[in-house]
Amino acid sequence: MALEAWYMDDGNEDPRLPHIRSPKESVSLQQLAELGVLYWKLNPNDYENDEELREIRETRGYNYMDLLDLCPEKVENYEQKLKNFYTEHIHQDEEIRYCLEGSGYFDVRDKDDRWIRIWVKAGDLIILPAGIYHRFTLDTSNYVKLMRLFVGEPVWTAYNRPQEDHLARKGYIKSLTEKMGVPVAAH
Ligand code: LAC
Ligand code: NI
Repeated sequence: MALEAWYMDDGNEDPRLPHIRSPKESVSLQQLAELGVLYWKLNPNDYENDEELREIRETRGYNYMDLLDLCPEKVENYEQKLKNFYTEHIHQDEEIRYCLEGSGYFDVRDKDDRWIRIWVKAGDLIILPAGIYHRFTLDTSNYVKLMRLFVGEPVWTAYNRPQEDHLARKGYIKSLTEKMGVPVAAH
């Protein structure tokens, strides 16, 4: 099945609940691509020998890789980390996550600042562009195992919103404007 994504409702109940609007407002891969969010469906069972993954890593220069097994026994400061993940932020680089097991929600802001919830499950690889406001939470299954990819030495620093003067943020806004074909001279 293809990736599922939708606009979030405005409720402030448990973030691990789906928060689907009624009626549901689905978001397509095309809409995500317009925000610079990229997606691949891969086979997570044999990821160590996956030719498709190898190609993506080679093409995009993702030479760094590690695994984040998000359970309290394996992650130091588990609660604090989850809290940080769910605090709206940007990074100076792409955030590349490949879900190997379990599931979770990556929320990204669209160009009108509305939250889109992306439900990532085993086999889903997503790339969030540098400078996009986003956050992450587990869903009600409470478990995810993620592969993290990076170009060179990883930098995990999160810059919490607001970050309008951050170079990555400015670059992202510029790329959005160019994608939408808004003539710069008109502003
Ligand atoms: C993050 C976790 C989910 O960086 O990898 O948000
Ligand atoms: Ni992040």
